[in-house]
Amino acid sequence: MIEREITKIQELVYELRVGDVMKRGVIKVIPSTQMSDLRAVLRDNRISGTPVVEEGRLVGIISLEDFIRWLYDGGPDCAVVDRMTRKVISVFEDEPLIQAFNNLERFGFGRLPVLARGIGKLTGVITKGDIIGGLLKKLDIGYRQAEIHSTRSSHIFEDIVADKSALIFEYQVSGGDFSRAGNSAGGLKTTLLRLGISPQITRRAAIATYEAEMNLIFFTNGGKIKTKIEPEIIQIEVEDDGPGIPDIDQALKPGFSTAPEWVRELGFGAGMGLHNIQKCSDRMNLSSTVGKGTRLKVEILVGNEDGSE
Ligand SMILES: Nc1ncnc2c1ncn2[C@@H]1O[C@H](COP(=O)(O)OP(=O)(O)OP(=O)(O)O)[C@@H](O)[C@H]1O
Ligand SMILES: [Mg+2]
Repeated sequence: MIEREITKIQELVYELRVGDVMKRGVIKVIPSTQMSDLRAVLRDNRISGTPVVEEGRLVGIISLEDFIRWLYDGGPDCAVVDRMTRKVISVFEDEPLIQAFNNLERFGFGRLPVLARGIGKLTGVITKGDIIGGLLKKLDIGYRQAEIHSTRSSHIFEDIVADKSALIFEYQVSGGDFSRAGNSAGGLKTTLLRLGISPQITRRAAIATYEAEMNLIFFTNGGKIKTKIEPEIIQIEVEDDGPGIPDIDQALKPGFSTAPEWVRELGFGAGMGLHNIQKCSDRMNLSSTVGKGTRLKVEILVGNEDGSE
């Protein structure tokens, strides 16, 4: 089943952070920069827009489109502050790349300003080109590292096969704590690769865990992810005592989401998480009681390389 094929690229956009690929040292203008001076800034740097910054803080964005509109209107010269867009969609350096990617797609922007979390200082800009460049670089390095890991540590897994024991890992996820998003999925992925599990199986386990982890962060007060690794099967159990899901069938439908605005602003809430989990699993079970909590069980068969039955 082609649909289940999870590419290395898809996995990396969850794993890499904006800060890993963004351009630092941005070209920028200040609010009082004159529109008439903007042409040179855009042309000399071959860019189609630039952030407007006041004392390190991002206050707006001015694009080639704004510039052209100003020319077209034929008004007098003015400061960019009068022509810029004030409501800027930006991303934080420590956010997963998938978010920047989602936002670029969703709003059709060419670039997103990148801010340092906390102080809100503008530290760079990210474009689709940066994302692709970063992915390609990482792909090259990642492949080599995965090879080293699987040869160096495959004996660990043979040991487990020999005494038929299982490895169990537990991760606690705090609700609302977006700064640690992706940590459990990342940890599991490293472990599986070190154990010599194939990249394709590892990818499916990591994506399922990532989506479940995001749901814990967005919809609950937190919960627990427990992973059991056996020679033939990887089991992932996710539990929370959050609000519960009233209609499971509906929640599983691609596109269904109750994500609040703050989640959507982060580039999530497309209603694809549970659907992705399903695609990555050989077996999946979701049960929930409103007011009590939700329990998700995912099984991935280690021998089942392409995920098809
Ligand atoms: N652990 C949970 N507790 C309560 N509700 C949940 C939980 N997980 C999912 N849901 C509900 O199921 C819906 C669908 O979840 P799903 O992961 O498919 O999409 P999403 O999280 O809204 O968007 P996306 O995953 O694409 O960012 C959510 O919007 C939410 O209403
Ligand atoms: Mg989700």
